[in-house]
Amino acid sequence: SKKPVRVAVTGAAGQIGYALLFRIASGEMLGKDQPVILQLLEVPAEGPQKALKGVMMELEDCAFPLLVGMEAHGDPMTAFKDADYALLVGSRPRGPGMERAELLAINGAIFTAQGKALNAVASRDVKVLVVGNPANTNAYIAMKAAPDLKPGNFTAMLRLDHNRAASQIAAKTGKAVADIEKLCVWGNHSPTMYADYRFATIKGESVKAMINDQEWNANVFLPTVGKRGAAIIEARGLSSAASAANAAIDHMRDWALGTNGKWVTMGIPSQGWYGIPKDVMFGFPVTCENGEYKVVEGLEIDAFSQACIDKTLKELTDEQAGVAHLI
Ligand code: NAI
Repeated sequence: SKKPVRVAVTGAAGQIGYALLFRIASGEMLGKDQPVILQLLEVPAEGPQKALKGVMMELEDCAFPLLVGMEAHGDPMTAFKDADYALLVGSRPRGPGMERAELLAINGAIFTAQGKALNAVASRDVKVLVVGNPANTNAYIAMKAAPDLKPGNFTAMLRLDHNRAASQIAAKTGKAVADIEKLCVWGNHSPTMYADYRFATIKGESVKAMINDQEWNANVFLPTVGKRGAAIIEARGLSSAASAANAAIDHMRDWALGTNGKWVTMGIPSQGWYGIPKDVMFGFPVTCENGEYKVVEGLEIDAFSQACIDKTLKELTDEQAGVAHLI
């Protein structure tokens, strides 16, 4: 049987953690033949640590055959030891009335410390996914704090936006979500993201031609996908958790096990693709194979798309400038 891999998860006692850990332990993320050791990080305070113990009791009670080890941590320096995968879920999202500078300062401290810890103790091939918001900028901070690791192994989660876009397109066209290919989301995980179906196909047919409605694209589709997180908070009284956990599973599974040629969206540090400056943590269309992602290059960017990409890029470079003093 396969050697177990170490999966570190932060914010493990939170909402997303509760929807995520059981699926990792059941083999949905890394395959039904891959044993896992969970290394769970929570803030060291008594309340969250106690809640984490409760989640671990439930994980035990599932008797998952693939869960061969499990640890609770209050310090990233121990939680990330030899980690092969790290899902950074815990962060401080923007609260009501919180100033941008305050948000960036709090998360700057968290993701600098976690990047340093990964740099010091994780596997040299650790694959990192940042879910905690602002996800792209948090991933950028962690990457910059980890100079000995491969920058390209730091990624941010755009997959929830991608999946939201796919399901809106399936509803609009009346087709099966499973048949949608070549969809992508450019930019920041924020309402400025640009979900792009110009290249998308369903059973070989063009989605753009099928929909043939730029007014719907600009005024219904993009705002619906962009504001979906807020709509869920409004409806549920809590932010999206199960769908976020599902997207994290999809992101890591595809990265680790491959996409078979299918396009997916990952937030990754740019190497200058499509004019996005180097190191900007940006959503791009990728395919994955043998544990590596590859950007889909050479796509035509029309004027509407360029304006959308410029807007989300501007937001990201502003966020990046706001944390420049931490780098
Ligand atoms: P939550 O508040 O239920 O849980 C977060 C947990 O993280 C808490 O238990 C907290 O104690 C812990 N935590 C905070 N700082 C930590 C640190 N430095 N180290 C370890 N643990 C820490 O929040 P929820 O709903 O689980 O969401 C987590 C994050 O994911 C939020 O930032 C949220 O905005 C973000 N999110 C991102 C999405 C995306 O698509 N990228 C989608 C949905 C949520």
